[in-house]
Amino acid sequence: QKLDLELAAIEKNGYDHFMLKEIFEQPQTIFDSLRGRMDAQKNQITLSGIDAIADKIQSARRIIIVACGTSWHAALVAEYVIEELCRINVEVEYASEFRYRNPIISNEDVIIAVSQSGETADTLVALENAKQQGATIYGLVNVVGSSIARLSDAGSYTHAGPEIGVASTKAYTAQLAVLQLIALKIAKIKGTIDDQKFTYFIQQLDAVPEKVQWILDNQVEEIKRIAKKYADANDVLYLGRGYNFPTALEGALKLKEISYIHAEGYPAAEMKHGPIALVDETLPVIFVATKDSYHEKIVSNIQEIKARKGKIIAIVSEGDQRVGDLADDLMVVPSCDEVIAPLLAAIPLQLLAYYIGVERGLDVDQPRNLAKSVTVE
Ligand code: G6P
Repeated sequence: QKLDLELAAIEKNGYDHFMLKEIFEQPQTIFDSLRGRMDAQKNQITLSGIDAIADKIQSARRIIIVACGTSWHAALVAEYVIEELCRINVEVEYASEFRYRNPIISNEDVIIAVSQSGETADTLVALENAKQQGATIYGLVNVVGSSIARLSDAGSYTHAGPEIGVASTKAYTAQLAVLQLIALKIAKIKGTIDDQKFTYFIQQLDAVPEKVQWILDNQVEEIKRIAKKYADANDVLYLGRGYNFPTALEGALKLKEISYIHAEGYPAAEMKHGPIALVDETLPVIFVATKDSYHEKIVSNIQEIKARKGKIIAIVSEGDQRVGDLADDLMVVPSCDEVIAPLLAAIPLQLLAYYIGVERGLDVDQPRNLAKSVTVE
């Protein structure tokens, strides 16, 4: 047993927990997931899996993305990005719902399965059913040779490396990175993006690893302080709009998993249809408020919460004085295009959940009742 403990310490590479190590690996794992696939000079994206099903994609009626848990949140971001860049209808499904509800599927459907482990039972069976009905299956999987990878007609691996912490961190951002590439590649195939915009997005993606590094180098101390301040909260509300609505969901999920604090993610505008009733001076509300085309809207949502005395914690783009003045606490990320923002905004939320879990003395690597891979239904 002593040997096991020593081995674990070596594998953690000086970090207190696997989760923290994996959060800090993200500049590298995002880089690894993009490397070799994106050529800024040649203005090219190489994804042999997408090439293999290019005809199917050209004629597809729609793309359905099937996933569970954190992978489902990556799928939601992809829905926004693919619809915007590729002008094709995208539906995102919880695998567990999709497999049981007798969905209408044909050979004109392309299904993208997103799964870190490639072994999630609900996702696997949902895909088997869809394949039988003629759909083309594209796997976006982290574990090489896993069941979902083998079942897929084509696919891409995320290159996040083994993820040990039960709560997904680096696998999530790797999924987001590759889904961005998939969206750009499909847009190129369908001719829905011009060269200039294509180059621009390649440059944006190329800059992500160093921007993530910036967050890790500059925000950790502040996030630790915020974590201490709110570690005793009973409920936390996460709000975001557009590309960052799924970020709000993922932030809330991370907090639930790691700290056992009740947390809910909502589209910011929906708060007035229910969650706003919860707001008082004890409720921390986390706004994912990076600069985007919805920024004005989210600023008014922040004002609405402030008027009701909720505590406002905001994730903002560097230099955002306006939200800076409104918020009680701030987590800053570098500026980027709104399409890319979920890749950056996820990082402070992972760190916040981690430090709150640690502050509460919990086992952040293996939260109670959770499994890394759910291979039963
Ligand atoms: C479990 C894990 C989550 C993960 C989900 C889906 O619930 O604890 O972190 O997001 O399964 O797993 P998958 O391997 O399919 O991405």
